[in-house]
Amino acid sequence: PILAVIFDLDGVLVHTDQYHYKAWKRMADEEGLGFDESAGDRLRGVSRMESLDIILEKSGRTYTSVEKEALAERKNGYYRELLDRLTPADAAPGSRDILAVCKQQGIKVAIGSSSRNTPVILERLGLKHLFEAVADGNEIVNSKPDPEVFLLAAQKLAIDPEYCIVVEDAEAGLIAAKRAGMKTAAIGIVINSSAAADYRLHRLEELTAVLKG
Ligand code: G6P
Ligand code: MG
Repeated sequence: PILAVIFDLDGVLVHTDQYHYKAWKRMADEEGLGFDESAGDRLRGVSRMESLDIILEKSGRTYTSVEKEALAERKNGYYRELLDRLTPADAAPGSRDILAVCKQQGIKVAIGSSSRNTPVILERLGLKHLFEAVADGNEIVNSKPDPEVFLLAAQKLAIDPEYCIVVEDAEAGLIAAKRAGMKTAAIGIVINSSAAADYRLHRLEELTAVLKG
C-alpha cells in the first residue's frame, strides 16, 4: 500500500522551474555565458551550486569559490524577485485537489525539495499548512540524485520508504527516490524519458488512480 506521498516542489506543485531558468539565464547573459533550455533541464532537482557548476562548464575558465558564491547569490536575487510575484493562484492545477484526496484517504503528504527557497514558496502559495512534513535544501548535505531529502521526509512522517511514492519532474529526483527505496511518479518533461518512473502522470489528478491501486 501507499501510505505517504512526497511531492517535489519546483515543476510539480508550482511552475517555479521556469523562474529558475529565467533567473539563471539573466545571470548567464550578463556574464556572456552560453545557456539554453537543454542545459536548463539538467538543472532540475540539482542544488544551487551544482546548477552553477553546470552553467560554468562551458565557460572555458575556472572561477574561485568567492566568484561562484557571488554569481549564485546574484541569480538567487533575480529568482527571489520572481518569487515575490507568486500568489496562491500560482499553485499548479489540481494540486489542492490531490492534497485533499490524500487527506481524505488518510495518506500523509510531505514536500521533498532541494530548494532552500522552499519555505518562502510554500508561504506565498498558501500551501504550507497542508503538509505533515517539509524536507528541503536547508536541511540536507547532498541534493538529488542522492536520496537524502526523501529519506528525511519519510523519517519526519514516520513512514517506511517502501510505503512512500515520490512525484517528480526531474530525472535526478526520480533516481533519488528509487535510491531511497520508494515508488515514483513522473510528471512533466521526464514523463516519457525516465527509466526510473513507476507511473507516468499527465496531470496531478491522475495520482488519484495510483493511490487507489
Ligand atoms: C530545486 C530545483 C532546482 C534548484 C534547486 C535549488 O531542486 O529543481 O532547479 O536549483 O531546487 O534551489 P534554490 O532555491 O535553493 O536555489
Ligand atoms: Mg522539480
